[in-house]
Amino acid sequence: MSKKSTAEFFDSYAHGFNAIYGNKNTFLNNLINKYFRESMKLRYDKTIEGCYPIKGKTVIDIGCGPGHYSITLAKKGADYISGIDFAEAMIDLARQNAKNTGVENKCNFILGDFMNTVIKDKFDYSIVMGFMDYIEEPWKVIEKVLSITKAKAFFSFPVEGGVLAWQRKLRYKKKCNLFMYNIEQLHELFANLNYKKLEVEKISRDLFVTVYMENGNTGSAI
Ligand SMILES: C[S@@+](CC[C@H](N)C(=O)[O-])C[C@H]1O[C@@H](n2cnc3c(N)ncnc32)[C@H](O)[C@@H]1O
Repeated sequence: MSKKSTAEFFDSYAHGFNAIYGNKNTFLNNLINKYFRESMKLRYDKTIEGCYPIKGKTVIDIGCGPGHYSITLAKKGADYISGIDFAEAMIDLARQNAKNTGVENKCNFILGDFMNTVIKDKFDYSIVMGFMDYIEEPWKVIEKVLSITKAKAFFSFPVEGGVLAWQRKLRYKKKCNLFMYNIEQLHELFANLNYKKLEVEKISRDLFVTVYMENGNTGSAI
């Protein structure tokens, strides 16, 4: 098998990825790899919790995949969610999932490459989960995300090192490019950018990053 582009890979993997979340949005019951499941569950919980207060807020879900973050936040009272993904099958699933849960009026799922899409709005929260793994020029994504974020941006970065990282690299070798990070690299990536506070936390196989912007509401009450 030759290495595909990331968009082609996720286009062919969309249904498998969607199934990880389970049929009724009960989380991750079908996945074989416990460690992978744990990381996905933790970053999902932390992001959803980090988006409180959500009522009346706007969100952009970058690399939204089948739209599970978007849909949960729409159900919890977000005003408007914009999801973007360059894999067509992912966008089809996101639209279908939103329709099935009755939140299609609050969600706009756009097919496109985040870096080539002009985004005119600013959003209270930006979600960048399971995305930086595939990005060749991470600094460009980070700058663009921060430029469209009012309150908080959430990122996950896969951790470099260890048996699991090695095993994952091996699995992805012929699928698509994969980039991994350590904490020092992350601090370098986020240095000299304009924000109020940066939090980097290791959760399972990911580094979870929260960026607090200068002018946004960063309250934690629901
Ligand atoms: C591992 S999935 C994560 C999906 C979702 N964020 C989640 O955590 O459930 C990564 C997604 O990012 C998308 N993606 C990667 N690079 C992208 C880019 N440059 N522009 C838009 N989407 C991209 C892929 O197509 C894929 O659907």
